Amino acid sequence: MKMEHRLAQIMLLLCGPLLVFSAAAQEQSIRPGINRHFEDPDWQQWVNTFERPGREVYDQRHAIVAASKVRPGMTVADIGAGTGLFTRLFASAVKPKGTVYAIDIASTFIDNILRTCREQGLSNVTGIVNTPVDIGLPADSIDLAFMADTYHHFEYPQQTLASIHQALRSEGRVIIIDFRRDPRISSKWVMGHVRSNKAQVIQELQAAGFRLVDDKPLMRTNYFLEFVKSGKEEGE
Ligand SMILES: C[S@@+](CC[C@H](N)C(=O)[O-])C[C@H]1O[C@@H](n2cnc3c(N)ncnc32)[C@H](O)[C@@H]1O
Repeated sequence: MKMEHRLAQIMLLLCGPLLVFSAAAQEQSIRPGINRHFEDPDWQQWVNTFERPGREVYDQRHAIVAASKVRPGMTVADIGAGTGLFTRLFASAVKPKGTVYAIDIASTFIDNILRTCREQGLSNVTGIVNTPVDIGLPADSIDLAFMADTYHHFEYPQQTLASIHQALRSEGRVIIIDFRRDPRISSKWVMGHVRSNKAQVIQELQAAGFRLVDDKPLMRTNYFLEFVKSGKEEGE
């Protein structure tokens, strides 16, 4: 081996971990405080909020599950699972051999999701209390990363998207449902609470190595986007 190659190899061995650490440390919280209500959440209060008629993603939950093309045997990550509204529906859809990971930064949500799943006889749900920078799944472990009303809660979207990217299998998909941020139709609350509109979210996903394959006109105040890892052609 040439001397300069040997030197480069030694430098990489010595500095590699430092480079990885500094890249991870670079991203600052893009929205400090956005998750303060979820630091010690009251389970019943959030069930009443997330699982109430009149909330568009609740009213459209069955259409959303159908549009997500979840099939028996799949492994699905419900990221930002909240009270488990979609976790439970996906758990039924992937039965008997599929698995759903209910992932949330709030342990109260995960504990109660696992309890309600046990009570309803759903034994194929695994709970993960993750960190705000990483979804906590190994490489190539999921077919679908699903986020309802969660993307705008990511404080560290670049790092979180990188962890989703590595967790997805090669044919894996990402579905993002989030509030439209458009002054013509959005409430004042949405305009203040949600940091980016659909076009910005698409840009962020593209920058993270995902390609948009569908934008379903399913809802009025929320959009439904489907992505695949870059390199995969639509309809393949
Ligand atoms: C508005 S709730 C949506 C809950 C559920 N997806 C639904 O639609 O009913 C957003 C959820 O995202 C969680 N969350 C925020 N940041 C997160 C992150 N980085 N990783 C995983 N979950 C996160 C919050 O704790 C909260 O449960």
